[in-house]
Amino acid sequence: MKKALIISTSIREGSNSERLAKEVLKGAKEAGLETSFVSLKGKSIAFCRGCLACQKLGRCVIDDDANAITDEIANSDIIVFATPIYYYEMAGQMKTLIDRANSLYVSQRRFKDVYLLSVAAEEESSVPEKALSGLQGWVDCFEGVRLKGSLFVGGVGEPLAVIKSDALAKAYDFGRKLAC
Ligand SMILES: Cc1cc2nc3c(=O)[nH]c(=O)nc-3n(C[C@H](O)[C@H](O)[C@H](O)COP(=O)(O)O)c2cc1C
Repeated sequence: MKKALIISTSIREGSNSERLAKEVLKGAKEAGLETSFVSLKGKSIAFCRGCLACQKLGRCVIDDDANAITDEIANSDIIVFATPIYYYEMAGQMKTLIDRANSLYVSQRRFKDVYLLSVAAEEESSVPEKALSGLQGWVDCFEGVRLKGSLFVGGVGEPLAVIKSDALAKAYDFGRKLAC
């Protein structure tokens, strides 16, 4: 059975992207995927120091929560990143996690399909473009891995604004389709 890992990167109380990520999780589970959910809330993840020791050791030398999440990424087939849009980009905590997962470059990994779920206050469909481009840059570093899809929910600025929209149903469907 394929395993989907959903990584929720917002640390805000009443996070819109986390609420949607939980619907994605539900959809994926009900479609028959093995699932795992990780939130960066309460996690300690330092910036990458750029020492590149990970390329020799296969793991990061900084002893915080990043290594366990990196292991989860390596051992999943499908990765869904959920992020708020901050200044037209992925949130810094998502980028920090990606940088800290640099040992993936040299280690065994299962993942093939990567998805982005993003939310923002503005509604224009162009709002997540730079976040998608950034994630594509990461994906392109891994042979055989693709950025397979994305879901953008705009018009949600206040905490849990997403509850009043039709986005929960869209996120659930998005989760179900991860199995296809
Ligand atoms: C630092 C910061 C930068 C933001 N930049 C943007 C932006 O460029 N465009 C936008 O539409 N919303 C922007 N927002 C609004 C958030 O994307 C929006 O509130 C979203 O619902 C937050 O998601 P969350 O609840 O999952 O944390 C920004 C919010 C913060 C805190």
